[in-house]
Amino acid sequence: MAFTKKIGIAAAALLGAVAFSNLTLRAQEGGAHESPNPTRQTWSFSGPFGTFDRAQLQRGFKVYKEVCSNCHELHIPIRTLGQPGGPGFTEDQVKTLAATYTVHDGPNLQGEMFDRPGRPADFFPAPFPNPEAAAASLGAAPPDMSLLAKSIKFERGFPAFVFDALPIPGGMYQEVGPDLIYAILNGYTKEDDPNWNLYFPGHKIAMGKPLAAGQVDYTDGTPTTLEQYSKDVAAFLYWAAEPSLEQRKRIGARVMIFLLVLAGLLYFTKKKIWADVAH
Ligand code: HEC
Repeated sequence: MAFTKKIGIAAAALLGAVAFSNLTLRAQEGGAHESPNPTRQTWSFSGPFGTFDRAQLQRGFKVYKEVCSNCHELHIPIRTLGQPGGPGFTEDQVKTLAATYTVHDGPNLQGEMFDRPGRPADFFPAPFPNPEAAAASLGAAPPDMSLLAKSIKFERGFPAFVFDALPIPGGMYQEVGPDLIYAILNGYTKEDDPNWNLYFPGHKIAMGKPLAAGQVDYTDGTPTTLEQYSKDVAAFLYWAAEPSLEQRKRIGARVMIFLLVLAGLLYFTKKKIWADVAH
């Protein structure tokens, strides 16, 4: 049997096994997750050369600050907002913003706790003292948002998950988190039930519809629609979960280009070295 044929059969067997294990997995899950898969949105930060849209991150931060931060913690230092590759706030803007928060600090020399204005190195203060208190008041604990956009996921199923991993057009799909956040914010499709969500597993969500059109003022003329708010805040949360994404992608792209050039050089070196050998 030809070698290529053997490889072909092995590959087919492997794909078959993967498909089968995926099917059985889905069967075991039963009907618990009868949600449609969220639609893929276009994101400026997807793909090997993706970068964040600064204005979008600033709008997303505004939505987070005015709406989401009433319930969700965002456990990152405030100064992250001024780092390169982020929303691009200046050092002064970050200082001014930090000072608008009240931080519980102490004990001081008298052994007492006290409140003081925030500083850039402080973390965004949590809206509740602990998850139990949050759950008691909201019916469930809202997850911390610092990793949310990376941690929430849905199964794309076979064969999509194979293509998602490949470096082909439409492949290298890493934005399931922001797509799901967008889908949940737009998934309150039962008018009479503010806690029914098309995309939340089980459909019952303790978070009542948090956003509606016109709720947050945009100063740059961007439409104040639910869809736009959802995209902006999902982008902001993706950045918050990976503030160094741009740097990582830049290094990745450089490494790929370097490897391509190296491969070319090696090819011509090989040709030259073997040029005089009869074959
Ligand atoms: C009134 C409080 C409240 C506000 C405001 C709020 N949330 Fe929530 N959120 C919750 C609670 C409570 C949960 C947990 C829901 C559950 O487990 O049923 C939650 C869950 C979520 C989830 C689902 C997480 C998961 O594990 O699947 C997402 C996504 C989310 N919130 C995003 C947002 C965004 C974005 C905003 C701002 C636009 C926001 N939330 C504003 C209370 C809130």
